Amino acid sequence: MPSQEHFAIERFMDEYEENVDFNVAETCCHSLTLNELHKLCDEKFELNYDKRLTYGSICGSPELRSLIAKIHSSQNVQLTKENVLITNGAIAANFLVSYALAGPGDHVICVAPTYQQLSSVPRMFGADVDILCLKEVDGYLPHIAELTAMIKPNTKLIVLNNPNNPLGSVIPTDLLEKIATVADDRNITVLCDEVYSPLFHSCGQPKSFVQLSARGIVTGSMSKAYSAAGVRLGWIVSRDTKFLEQAASRRDYNTISVSMVDDEIAHYILRNRDAVLKRNYTLCTENLATLKDFVKSSNGKFSFVHEPEGGSVCLIRVSGIEDTEAFARSLATHYKVLFAPVECFGIPGTLRVGYGNSNLELTKGLELLNKAYNGELEK
Ligand SMILES: Cc1ncc(COP(=O)(O)O)c(C=O)c1O
Repeated sequence: MPSQEHFAIERFMDEYEENVDFNVAETCCHSLTLNELHKLCDEKFELNYDKRLTYGSICGSPELRSLIAKIHSSQNVQLTKENVLITNGAIAANFLVSYALAGPGDHVICVAPTYQQLSSVPRMFGADVDILCLKEVDGYLPHIAELTAMIKPNTKLIVLNNPNNPLGSVIPTDLLEKIATVADDRNITVLCDEVYSPLFHSCGQPKSFVQLSARGIVTGSMSKAYSAAGVRLGWIVSRDTKFLEQAASRRDYNTISVSMVDDEIAHYILRNRDAVLKRNYTLCTENLATLKDFVKSSNGKFSFVHEPEGGSVCLIRVSGIEDTEAFARSLATHYKVLFAPVECFGIPGTLRVGYGNSNLELTKGLELLNKAYNGELEK
């Protein structure tokens, strides 16, 4: 059996998520109900009650795949449904990419900090994984010379995450282009996890990696920018249809197809995406302003590791508290407020703040964080 690393953040969330009053560890933009979607969008979601509940289209419905292809297309790079494979969330998409590409004898380079899955899964499949540390001096972006120097003759895959979880840093197009050139010149595939795209609320929108490299692979989902994690639906997009066929054949053993009901809801949300994204840009921008005010007025108790440019999460440093895991556990137990401790991401002394959730959740959460830091116990 392949040996698997403990998935720290998922275990932590599972332990506390259902038992707190305010969730500031949430990474999704405030999840929507169907009733709220009806109000936001010009049309109502109508489930076809006469449709037979079969497995549906195995790789995802042609309508949904075509729409996702269109979202990832540009004037220069036109994609079709053949470039899209539907999965159970981005988590299954990322898993499938490693399952199809990484094994014993392969070398993989993965940025850190990032979502642990991105380095743990290729390692689980027997690949040799090296970490490219994102540093403050580089604006928490991949350093191109450092990345190039890490490449070995057997490097098969470079893994990026844009926007980054947990930092909120965004790799701009010019740097993505440099990475694409380095990788393409050496026949290395790049997987860019774009699950937080297009939440580029505080910067210009970079190109999707699928635009920049013919062998580039991107993953995404309904969870974060589209506020619908309950629709367990994600995707892999690539111009490399041979790779997609390989991934689809691997997927045969663990998916068959994704729920046809989820497929229909995802199509409904994506065809009304402008309204949903407008709501979520406003939410992230206003909540980020709330968070900046909180940090500013904290007199140094809390500070940003990096002011986020995109996504819905960022890291704050908690002055004088090294063991933020114990602190986060105490916050969850005694104050009923959830922050993700960044021991889960390998940076002690920090907490991850999810600022895409409702403003009430964030405001109350920050208030309780301040009380806990000052040692004031909730009654
Ligand atoms: C970077 C990253 N990739 C993938 C996922 C999984 O998302 P999904 O809900 O689409 O499976 C997450 C979830 O937190 C994430 O942060």
